[in-house]
Amino acid sequence: MRASTVSKEFAAPDGSHTQVLNGVSFEAAAGDFTVIVGPSGSGKSTLLHCLAGLERPTSGEAFLDGVNLNELTPRARARAYRKIVGFVFQNYNLIDSLSAWENVALPFRLDGRRPEVSRVDAALTVVGLASKRKRLPSQLSGGEQQRVAIARAICSEPAVLLTDEPTGALDDVTAQFVFDQLKRIAANGAAVVTVTHDLVAAERADRVIVMRSGHILYTGLPIPATEITAIFAAGEVSR
Ligand SMILES: Nc1ncnc2c1ncn2[C@@H]1O[C@H](COP(=O)(O)OP(=O)(O)O)[C@@H](O)[C@H]1O
Ligand SMILES: [Mg+2]
Repeated sequence: MRASTVSKEFAAPDGSHTQVLNGVSFEAAAGDFTVIVGPSGSGKSTLLHCLAGLERPTSGEAFLDGVNLNELTPRARARAYRKIVGFVFQNYNLIDSLSAWENVALPFRLDGRRPEVSRVDAALTVVGLASKRKRLPSQLSGGEQQRVAIARAICSEPAVLLTDEPTGALDDVTAQFVFDQLKRIAANGAAVVTVTHDLVAAERADRVIVMRSGHILYTGLPIPATEITAIFAAGEVSR
């Protein structure tokens, strides 16, 4: 998966424009666990959405599996997303009227396939929710809903797994467990990109991307949390 000088600008109703991404380029290789960190509002979620083809860049290109998403019709783009991408949304995006199990099975249904029962069960077991599979999202805690969203994204063993603050609602032990799972999924050959505020977890990634104000300020091997904080503050790379 690759982003090439991706810029994104949002127009406000009053006619003003906000430049959210400023020519961002990077590559996330299969087999790598890549972590994106950056202060709130730096454009991390927007970048993930552009990478997944859920949002169109104002300029620049995003490539999934070597395919330029700009060159696909909306229908083909949606299909590529369903085939290639697992996504954990920052706000979970669970369907309120479906049980945990049905939420995890949803990608199969959207793809016109019967859910593979054993895979759905296994994904719920991985996140420790097998016993709560029949519950509706409203009957689960925030952290449990987040784990259902993770199970849904990993269930189809996607080639590209994009997760937006997947541990924000989890306790430290469960968060650590989720990071271990993401690392394992990457080691099995997927390109895993995770946005997180957990700078210590970022030290265990294969690659780290530091964003601020729509720019990438650092990309490379993990650096200590203190160095990342210095980049946030200074707005420049301190190495
Ligand atoms: N649909 C939108 N319309 C207008 N502004 C947006 C939209 N989505 C995001 N933004 C703005 O873009 C900036 C970056 O947002 P986001 O990508 O969510 O940042 P992050 O995930 O790093 O916190 C924020 O200032 C946000 O308000
Ligand atoms: Mg965000």
